Amino acid sequence: MSHKGPYNAYVSAVGHYFPDKVIPNSYYESYLDTTDEWIKTRTGISERRFLEPNQPTSFMAIRAAQMVLEKRGISAEELDAIIITTVTPDMFYPATAVIVADAIGAKNAFGFDLSAACSGFIFGLATAIQFVQCGTYKKVLIIGADKMSCLADMSDRNNCVLFGDGAAAFLLEPTEDKTIGIIDQILHVDGSGKDSLYQLGGGSLNPPTHETVDKKMHYIYQEGKTVFKAAVKGMADISAEMMEKHNLKPEDVAYLVPHQANMRIIQATADRMGVGLDKVMININKYGNTTSATIPSCVSEYYYDGKIKKGDNLILTSFGAGYTWGSILLKWAI
Ligand code: ACO
Repeated sequence: MSHKGPYNAYVSAVGHYFPDKVIPNSYYESYLDTTDEWIKTRTGISERRFLEPNQPTSFMAIRAAQMVLEKRGISAEELDAIIITTVTPDMFYPATAVIVADAIGAKNAFGFDLSAACSGFIFGLATAIQFVQCGTYKKVLIIGADKMSCLADMSDRNNCVLFGDGAAAFLLEPTEDKTIGIIDQILHVDGSGKDSLYQLGGGSLNPPTHETVDKKMHYIYQEGKTVFKAAVKGMADISAEMMEKHNLKPEDVAYLVPHQANMRIIQATADRMGVGLDKVMININKYGNTTSATIPSCVSEYYYDGKIKKGDNLILTSFGAGYTWGSILLKWAI
């Protein structure tokens, strides 16, 4: 990053929440022309979690936020801002961040939602960092939360097996130690990807009608192969660029934290960086693609499993609809 304010932003606490309901691959075998073997070998997914139909995204975001506050030992009133990254807000408005702020009692915080599909958390984190680095705000909560079960067409085997529901959060705080915390970010969009991965219905282009519902325009549409190729290139290139920019060798990287869309994309990214899978955070096998929640939930689970040490270099890397892609280098500080 060319400019920094007086502080570095560091992650001072993490949290995550997944619904209790487990959906194993065998569930899809029961009514679709698919197999547990196909799903595992082509995607790396064994099971995912689903919310109940009447539970919104905020249900998970609230619980992830509460875990962060409890672990940090602070009250919600100490939060200055809440950013939620999601493609499945409770409603178009008010923002889910406002709903969460009210539910947890964050009376002194402002907040908003940010949409960048599977790169949501990376773009949101990059945004949150700015508030903290310049010294304007001292406690910024960033939550990645998505209820993908409400966007996946459960009759389409190309689509429904990939996604799950989840939420996870980071608390960012300032430090005067410029050697720790978030060190750098690289972000990209390429709108030529808009034709390969989208949800056509529900926005101002195609407001909901009987016709949009009949034509299944409110579900995720994805040209899997096209997106797959773009994701492999985008994630591998940007992760390698981050390493080169900071003269990091594979042994200097404690963990690659990739967006969890497909185990084969993750493997290709790790190969390009020259790091073994033992240095890659993975939870796609348990949760599928939870869009905004994949990266922070990996970090939170690995942290509470005692697998991240103070001073570790983490490279967080995402790729998603848009196309959007990005990478953040951080030195773990807690
Ligand atoms: N079970 C059995 N067969 C299946 C299934 C399934 N669940 N799904 C697809 N198939 C079939 C296809 O119909 C196809 O059959 P055909 O050859 O008779 O037409 C065959 O398997 C092979 O299909 P491919 O598309 O070649 O399969 P591929 O190996 O590419 O895997 C997948 C598909 C998993 C979707 C992969 O392309 C992928 O992961 N793409 C990228 C996903 C991604 O990164 N998305 C971005 C993030 S998502 C976001 O931002 C919201």
